[in-house]
Amino acid sequence: MSFWKSLFSTADVSTTARSNVVLNGTDTLSSIGNTNEQQIIFSTEREVDLYDLEELCDAVGWARRPLRKVKTAIQNSFLVLSMWEQKGKKTRLIGFSRATSDHAFNATVWDVVVHPDFQGCGLGKELMRQTIERLRRADISNITLFADPQVVDFYRNLGFMPDPEGIKGMFWYPD
Ligand SMILES: CC(C)(COP(=O)(O)OP(=O)(O)OC[C@H]1O[C@@H](n2cnc3c(N)ncnc32)[C@H](O)[C@@H]1OP(=O)(O)O)[C@@H](O)C(=O)NCCC(=O)NCCS
Repeated sequence: MSFWKSLFSTADVSTTARSNVVLNGTDTLSSIGNTNEQQIIFSTEREVDLYDLEELCDAVGWARRPLRKVKTAIQNSFLVLSMWEQKGKKTRLIGFSRATSDHAFNATVWDVVVHPDFQGCGLGKELMRQTIERLRRADISNITLFADPQVVDFYRNLGFMPDPEGIKGMFWYPD
């Protein structure tokens, strides 16, 4: 894991990473940081297998959700960004985020997750950076999310503010 850590923790590396960016025709597939054998790929186009996603969410201890509903949520998301480890011909889903949106002003980010084997290396930050960049490219300026208490500082470091100007997120749940 130290390879990825060093890759994402120095200024030089981010230049290297940028020079390694590979874009497809629609500008949605990029790869960051490669050795001869290993690449991390970010994609908005690759199809995400629901069982792979469930396995990823299991790995961080999230409660299981009905796959039928997860499929609908993904289909109706504005942005779905997946992160993959490519080792030779083998591909593994290692990260995920998605956003819903009104396509004009607002987007809300959901289901941000990095597999524990790959945490602490800067990949979560990169996943969020790319999520925000893509939303900004769509001219969406109001980006919100709901942070679990243990990740508030993770998002704060990325520029998210809790309760800006006293605004509170409010929730309604069925009884
Ligand atoms: C939260 C999560 C996405 C972070 O991913 P990651 O790849 O481990 O994070 P990174 O390595 O990119 O960390 C980037 C920075 O955030 C910091 N950070 C990471 N997790 C943090 C946390 N839980 N709280 C505060 N800071 C955190 C890192 O120290 C690092 O700081 P630096 O830039 O000063 O070095 C990942 O831990 C995860 O998937 N957790 C389980 C699922 C989850 O809780 N998702 C959020 C739901 S709201």
